[in-house]
Amino acid sequence: MSYESEVKKIIRIKHDLCFIKKFCEDNSKKCKYFGLSGPDFYDILDWDDFIEKVLTVEYNEEKIPILIKNLHVNNLESRVNYIQDDIIKLIIEEDPKIIYPYDLINFDFLGTFIYQYKLKFKKPKMERIEVFKKLIEYQYRFLKVDESFLFFITLNSQRGKDITIFENALKSLKRDYNIEEVEWLISKKNKVTQYQKIAYILPSLIFKSCLNKFNLTNFKIIIYQGKKNIMVHFCFYLKKVRGSYLNFSDINLKRLSDLPIILIQKSGKELKIRGKNFFSSEDPFKI
Ligand SMILES: C[S@@+](CC[C@H](N)C(=O)[O-])C[C@H]1O[C@@H](n2cnc3c(N)ncnc32)[C@H](O)[C@@H]1O
Repeated sequence: MSYESEVKKIIRIKHDLCFIKKFCEDNSKKCKYFGLSGPDFYDILDWDDFIEKVLTVEYNEEKIPILIKNLHVNNLESRVNYIQDDIIKLIIEEDPKIIYPYDLINFDFLGTFIYQYKLKFKKPKMERIEVFKKLIEYQYRFLKVDESFLFFITLNSQRGKDITIFENALKSLKRDYNIEEVEWLISKKNKVTQYQKIAYILPSLIFKSCLNKFNLTNFKIIIYQGKKNIMVHFCFYLKKVRGSYLNFSDINLKRLSDLPIILIQKSGKELKIRGKNFFSSEDPFKI
C-alpha cells in the first residue's frame, strides 16, 4: 500500500518545504533528518536538496525489502540509515542509535493520539504527547542556545479512544485561561469534530512542553482530507532560548487564535480560515 496522495505531495512541496528552506537559510546548513520516511522515501526525495543525513525507522518488517530496494534505486545508501523497530520504543528507551540533536524530526504517523505501547513490564498504553515531550527534552539537552529544529507531526483524527484526553486537556485549559475558543470546543451543545480538538490541544501541549526551553519561531496547521480520514499536520519551528519566557503559553495560545489554518480537500483545493473562526464553527470545511 502506498501512502502517496496528491494532497500529501502538495503539503510536502508547498507547505513543508518553505519551512525547511527557511531553516536551511537561517542556519546555513542542510538538515539532519530523523523520523518516518516510509519505504518509498517520498519526503526525502521531495526535500532532497535540503537533507544531508537521514535516520529513518520502520516497524513493519514486510516493508523493509522495499525500503532497501528504494534506497538503492534512488541512490540514497550513503546518506540514509534505517532501523527496523518502533520509533516510540526507541525514544522512550533512549536507544543509543538515536544521536541527538536533529534538525528535522518528521513524525508522520498513521495513528491517533493514543499509542499502544506493547512492552513487557511497561504500561501497555501511552499518549504520544509523552513521546513528544521526551523529544523536546532531548533536543533541548543537545542543542545550543539559539539553535533551532523543525518538528513535523501528522496525526489521524478518526474518532475513538482519544476523547477523554481531549476533554481533560480542554478542562485544564478552561481552568487556566479564559479563551472563547476553549469554551466553544468544550461545550456539549456544539458539534465539535475530533480534528478541531487535536488541532487546538496538540499545539497547546507542545507550547507547554516548550516553556522556558524553546521559543516558537513559526508554526503552521494543515487539516487535510486523507484517503479515509481527516488528518492533521503540524509544523513547528522551535528555537532554543536561554531564559524563561514570561507568559509563553498565553502568547502562543493567542497565536493559535490568530493563525490562518489551512484546509485541503481531497481534490487539492485549499481554504484558509483564521484560527478564531476555525475553532468556533461547526464543519469548517464548509465555511
Ligand atoms: C505515513 S508513512 C510515511 C510517509 C512519508 N513520510 C511521506 O511523506 O511519504 C509512515 C510510515 O511509518 C511507519 N510507522 C508508523 N508508525 C511507526 C512507528 N511507531 N514506528 C516505526 N514505524 C512506524 C509506517 O509503517 C509507514 O511506513
